[in-house]
Amino acid sequence: MTQRGRFITLEGVDGAGKSTHIAWLVETLRARGLEVVSTREPGGTPLGEKLRELVLNEPMGLDTETLLMFAARTEHLRQVIAPALARGAWVVCDRYTDATYAYQGGGRELGAARIAVLEQWMQPPLAPDRTWLFDVPLEVARARMTAARTPDRFEREQQAFFERTRAAYQARAGADAARIHVIDASQSLEQVRAALAADVEAFLREAGVPAASAA
Ligand code: TYD
Repeated sequence: MTQRGRFITLEGVDGAGKSTHIAWLVETLRARGLEVVSTREPGGTPLGEKLRELVLNEPMGLDTETLLMFAARTEHLRQVIAPALARGAWVVCDRYTDATYAYQGGGRELGAARIAVLEQWMQPPLAPDRTWLFDVPLEVARARMTAARTPDRFEREQQAFFERTRAAYQARAGADAARIHVIDASQSLEQVRAALAADVEAFLREAGVPAASAA
């Protein structure tokens, strides 16, 4: 029987720098012979990408925003994530449900209770096996935010919003330290990469993936 793949997510406030590490992670896993599906939220399916466009750019109420995140997520889960894991592929997802707890729950102050109801609605009920949370002080995150493109609805938010978002992420990591590993992303890119690489190796060992050959 095919062994189920592993579900990995990466999280952090905008500007934490996680995107620069995702391509590296995907390459690293592929170099170990794993089939890897690299995907993102909101998005990950044709409909999900349309919902992403709406939720990042159209004015809307908080309930609508939260429901659209989960509408995109349920499509993603059923069409992409669950089938990939079932065939033995590993899934690397740029943000997942922790982002809703952090951004809508914390940043927008919806709280966790209603999000938990929507999370329970997701079928199949799949939690990530490992989440790497890129944590940085807000000044660092803001300085890193790409000035080149037009900021979306979230990137336009004020400092206090990101403080609440970061705090909600940290609280989730504190409550589930076995799954959510915090990476201090305020260090240099090389130091962050080294910290992530060491933890990725440990995760691969636990998953029974053979050590990299010296080739
Ligand atoms: P992001 O992942 O940062 O992509 P990019 O690097 O292209 O900007 O953008 C997605 C935005 O969506 C980010 O600001 C966080 C937000 N978001 C939520 O508010 N809730 C969610 O549940 C998810 C998945 C994302």
